[in-house]
Amino acid sequence: MSASNAVETKPSRDFLRAERAAKFILAKTKLRPRIGLVLGSGLGAFANELASATRIDYKKIPNFPQSTAIGHAGRMVIGKVANVPVAAMQGRVHFYEGYTPQQVIFPMRVMARMGVRAVLITNAAGGINRDFKQGCLVVLRDHMNLQGTNPLIGPNEDRFGVRFPDLTTVYWKPYQEAALQEGKRLKIEMAHGVYAALTGPSYETPAEIRYLRGIGADLVGMSTVWEVIAAAHLGIRVLGISCVTNMAAGILDQPITSEEVMETGERVKADFVALLRAVIPRMSENLA
Ligand code: HPA
Repeated sequence: MSASNAVETKPSRDFLRAERAAKFILAKTKLRPRIGLVLGSGLGAFANELASATRIDYKKIPNFPQSTAIGHAGRMVIGKVANVPVAAMQGRVHFYEGYTPQQVIFPMRVMARMGVRAVLITNAAGGINRDFKQGCLVVLRDHMNLQGTNPLIGPNEDRFGVRFPDLTTVYWKPYQEAALQEGKRLKIEMAHGVYAALTGPSYETPAEIRYLRGIGADLVGMSTVWEVIAAAHLGIRVLGISCVTNMAAGILDQPITSEEVMETGERVKADFVALLRAVIPRMSENLA
């Protein structure tokens, strides 16, 4: 918007809340991270590896939603990876916990107000593509929002972004390439795919998985997509990585259990940590 036709509106409540949380966090550290990390189910361990870390429980941060999901610690850790300052979310909140779409994306807006320009978002997902193996790490090239609503519905806050954000390049190609290259170099089993988000909390039926495969999904999960939509709105570039913790419903002749999901996360932890360590410096060379 040019200065001449700019309409000075009052900041929205969501904007003021995000601003307040961001200021609270920045007052606790001298680091000024440009990269954010969202560490999903069973993958939060990475935040324990950060150097010069400041840990802040979500419950202390003004307006911050609390995670109730298993495998989610519920704190923000600001620290350094390979000398790059990052803001790591050890756990996130989901729609299935009863949070509103706006609460689910609130942390993304807080990170944006902190100065974050790129995020690495991770999750546990069910593998729909039969070429994927349990435990492989999949770089996201796109997503499908099948959660029935969009977190940007409502009056647009221009201070966050435009009314109709473009999503065609939000999964930033150079980050995808860097992750696939680093994975190969580290001899980690990697793949590339499209993530479909459903609300959960029930896992899908075999019929739903056949449908999702038919429409072009490689992975299924219950998170990430709204955060990516919010990131696009905020002008933040995204690298998404899913850990295939289980094959999706009906692919193997066995039920899906959350124990299996956690166990696989645990098993690939070392690979995951190595991959993030290698990819973050490459993201920091390519910031918006
Ligand atoms: N479906 C949905 N979400 C998931 C799955 C799954 O099979 N595995 C881990 N998160």
